[in-house]
Amino acid sequence: MTDVDALEVPEDFLFGASTSPHQVEGDNVHSDMWALENMLASPLPEKSGRACDSYHRWGEDMDLLAGAGLTAYRFGIEWARIEPAPGVVDEQAVEHYRSMVEGALRRGLSPVVTLHHFTSPAWFAAAGGWTAPDAVAHFSRYVETVAPLLREARAVVTINEPNMVAIMPRLLSGETSSREPGVLPDPDPALADALEAAHRAAVGLLHEQLPGVPVGWSVANQCVEAITDGMERARQYQEAIEDRFLRVSVGDDFVGVQSYTRTVFGPGGRLVPPGRTTGNGWEFYPQALGWAVRHSFEITHAPVLVTENGIATSDDDARVEYLEGALAGLAGAMRDGIPVLGYLHWSLLDNYEWGSWAPRFGLIAVDRATSDDHDPTFARTPKASLAWLGRWARKGALPLPRIQGN
Ligand code: BGC
Repeated sequence: MTDVDALEVPEDFLFGASTSPHQVEGDNVHSDMWALENMLASPLPEKSGRACDSYHRWGEDMDLLAGAGLTAYRFGIEWARIEPAPGVVDEQAVEHYRSMVEGALRRGLSPVVTLHHFTSPAWFAAAGGWTAPDAVAHFSRYVETVAPLLREARAVVTINEPNMVAIMPRLLSGETSSREPGVLPDPDPALADALEAAHRAAVGLLHEQLPGVPVGWSVANQCVEAITDGMERARQYQEAIEDRFLRVSVGDDFVGVQSYTRTVFGPGGRLVPPGRTTGNGWEFYPQALGWAVRHSFEITHAPVLVTENGIATSDDDARVEYLEGALAGLAGAMRDGIPVLGYLHWSLLDNYEWGSWAPRFGLIAVDRATSDDHDPTFARTPKASLAWLGRWARKGALPLPRIQGN
């Protein structure tokens, strides 16, 4: 922190970290993802199991976050726990999430709450999922059930990465584009429309019941770039996979930006530029965050909330290096006048990465006993990156690279 200048952020800037229920809570037995992980011929190599046991240890997670100086926690409510069977509300689960919101506030953490983060109740998926005729009604009933918990939420994310949700069935059925290796299939248009309708219904309900609580959804930003002759394909891809979803945020209270790396097209299709990659094979490209924030604002004109940004790595120095680059990009966008409500790092914990425990995105390590020599203790070990981020939060500033002309 010595060789950089800083940009002061507004006093109510949300400086924190994110998790999602399925990836940290453990034993999410009523969810569609649990069913997928546990089926005989599951396409997923590893299961979530007890995950990080955060369903029981959330207080400790929040203590570490607040203790490091951070001021916000993005966590999710798991629909499958609230409504394990159609129309059946588990009141204990409702109380659980009420305690989490209150627990965050008690610790000085602003709660940013996600209502849907990839997982749905198994019954909802079995009935046809988002494109079934009753889907919006089902989702709305769930949103109405949890709305009273959210009166003091600092922001509510209705649906996490609808663009990825709309791609998922095609991805899972192996429909990767063989003509274009490394390129995600286009989102299913009917699914995209259904998610948009569910979002709109949720926004309407929440605005009515929780005036003053900002509501939006969060989009997976691809930072699509092109070199020689890749321009047209890059433009189509950007439109199909991202902009169609960003436009839904026009008029919303904020747009959630989720950025990790970039996608580059060249004359022969997607290419991975030579150079450094992260623990899960993505290009090490912290500049993507600044790009994503600028692009999202340009399309939506909505205030930006960075709901996810991070790197899979076992080398925590690399995480700090990545963070420094990403935050500098964010600071640059803010300095240029883009309204940014906060920065929520992905992730607070080393968590379940949808089929694998290998990628380590966390600011905090969790003992899951992968070495086989003891039972998991789920002990939390904060990494230096947590303290690093906390120092910036305490300072109320973002790093800017010391470049002449800054
Ligand atoms: C998701 C997270 C995921 C992260 C890293 C985002 O797509 O919202 O659930 O763990 O990226 O892959």
